[in-house]
Amino acid sequence: METEQKFEIEGGCELKGEIKVNGAKNSALKILASVVLTEEKIVIENFPFIEDTKRMLELLEELGAVIVKDVENKKVKINPEGIKAGNLQGELVKKLRASILLVGPLLARFGEVNMTYPGGCVIGKRPIDLFLDGFQKLGAKIEWNDDGFKAIANKPKLIGTTIFFSKITVTGTEAMMMTAVLAEGKTVLKNCAMEPEIKSLADYLNYNGAKISGAGTPTIVIKGTEKISAGTFKVIPDRIEAGTFVMMGLLCKSEITVTDCVPEHLGAVLPVLKNAGANLEVGEDYIKVKKGERLKAVSISTHEYPGFATDLQPPYTLLMTQAEGISLVHETIFEGRLFFTDQLNSMGTAIVMCDPHRVVISGPTGIYGKKLTSPDLRAGITMVLAGMIAHGKTTIDNIYQIDRGYEDIDERLNLLGANIKRV
Ligand code: EPU
Repeated sequence: METEQKFEIEGGCELKGEIKVNGAKNSALKILASVVLTEEKIVIENFPFIEDTKRMLELLEELGAVIVKDVENKKVKINPEGIKAGNLQGELVKKLRASILLVGPLLARFGEVNMTYPGGCVIGKRPIDLFLDGFQKLGAKIEWNDDGFKAIANKPKLIGTTIFFSKITVTGTEAMMMTAVLAEGKTVLKNCAMEPEIKSLADYLNYNGAKISGAGTPTIVIKGTEKISAGTFKVIPDRIEAGTFVMMGLLCKSEITVTDCVPEHLGAVLPVLKNAGANLEVGEDYIKVKKGERLKAVSISTHEYPGFATDLQPPYTLLMTQAEGISLVHETIFEGRLFFTDQLNSMGTAIVMCDPHRVVISGPTGIYGKKLTSPDLRAGITMVLAGMIAHGKTTIDNIYQIDRGYEDIDERLNLLGANIKRV
């Protein structure tokens, strides 16, 4: 539920203990979309009950699925038998960019989808041209209207083809992969995104009858099949949560252990942190942040996986405000993702925006509590971290944007020693 809740954070805490990483938002959302490919029941384990996945469950319910949530055990059971048509029109679609993921599977199953343009947060309102191009290459016809579009499959089925993504797109790759599993013949996807969540989705679909090879590489080949079944899926650990918590330990100059994660998924990030002087002990499924020397400035450019994740750019930008020297952060994926630095500057940091994609940061600077507004998920969590290291009290409005991706974040951080009140 969208509410008027705020966070009030008293800065200056020392953290101690362990924090467990939850299931990945960006894996769970895709598996929820894949539910539409079959009539069989699915059980999803390690499910993150965050606002984005709750909205996606509501969308599935609107379509006709029956859902049983077991929040305590992080499980959800979905019976998609009642889904009979592809109608994605309404307020939920306008709020959730990830609703676009449902179009391909619905088109593949029912041959027709009506959709209102999907929306979302400040950075959620990005184009969907790569999706629509892909559906058309697979033989669908698109009819545009003022509020959205109608996609109609070439009857009786979509037809396998070759799609070259002109831009690397994560959800675009996943959407075409899910759409092509029920198409006739072979589909080849080129210049694909390679995120671990894509490989995990392909493994699950393959286990249930799909014929996908190459997921996790730039070329994915899908041989169409008649039927996809369903079973149990365990959501992989959230690499963005893990990376954010590691940076939180460094920012708070505290010893914490981030558990239940896959450090290998942070392959580009951990070496950067170590170069900056972070003292990290990396195990198979944990990362321990130990006390160390003052951090040094290290410049980064965000990059598609396996490069430095754009979703970790905001906390890294904050981290650099506390490091010695000058660093450049180059955000190559999203245009609006550095604008939140204005709000950090209101707290006392020295970040100069060169253009919408680049900032130069001089550090270290003192940080003072302020009243902030979260523009999106990753900037929002960064403001929480800024509040935790600030002198005095920070208030953050629009925390729905933070609850979208981090479950019970105030309670979990308070257990480590933070002082965050939800009011
Ligand atoms: N793009 C287009 N046309 C399209 C689709 C994308 O021009 O049809 C552009 C975007 O505007 C962007 C670039 O392509 O400039 C890459 O965007 P991409 O499609 O890869 O992003 P996404 O799939 O919509 C996912 C994650 C994001 C994450 C990005 C990049 C999900 C649900 N979302 O978005 O996660 O930042 O990949 O890694 O998987 C977040 O979790 O906070 C978040 C924003």
